Amino acid sequence: MRTAVLVSGRGSNMQALVADARDPTHPADIALVASNDPSAEGLKWAKQNGIAVAGVDHRIHASREDFERALHLTLGLHRIEFICLAGFMRLLTPWFVNQWSGRIINIHPALLPSYRGLQTHARALADGVKIHGCTVHYVVPAMDEGPIIAQAAVPVLDADTPTTLGARVLAQEHLLYPHALRLVAGGGLRIEGNRTLGARGARDTDDLVVPPL
Ligand code: GRF
Repeated sequence: MRTAVLVSGRGSNMQALVADARDPTHPADIALVASNDPSAEGLKWAKQNGIAVAGVDHRIHASREDFERALHLTLGLHRIEFICLAGFMRLLTPWFVNQWSGRIINIHPALLPSYRGLQTHARALADGVKIHGCTVHYVVPAMDEGPIIAQAAVPVLDADTPTTLGARVLAQEHLLYPHALRLVAGGGLRIEGNRTLGARGARDTDDLVVPPL
């Protein structure tokens, strides 16, 4: 499955996906790393590591639609079949999302449906929650919604700041996203309403990652 990873910044999740996909038995091939920011750190890393890269600068397009058409065209030129959003900071229109329906997933740094949007770690701390985490989900037109594929939980510690909590979550993101891509690319999932279920109707707990305290 020819897969593109879309990034806007450093791309540490993209690096985790690339590392895992180097396994020859992996069902996905990371064939492209693309960004809306041609100077993104993640693009530099991908290029240095021999992966095809594309910068589609949103600032030179007159509208969001024009930008997305250019991005869509680029993905087509690279014969991309599947998209992983990994710190991609542009909202996607329903047009784009519908072109890729069922073939586009995202990682979000919170246990959805809690803490959609930005500043998730600071908001979790302010609310005093004891468990926080990250979620990989299918992308639908509404932001940070769509069937959940897998989640990882981390404890919130007394001494946490948004930075320390964010680092603990990020370490789990790097495990969770490769795991989720394998689940999806391996054909082991089906979508029923807002739920993802094992292809044969029985999935154990391989969609839940709970690290030791
Ligand atoms: C991650 O926390 C991801 O969950 C969020 O943006 C951040 C991207 O980090 N969507 P990186 O670029 O993968 O290092």
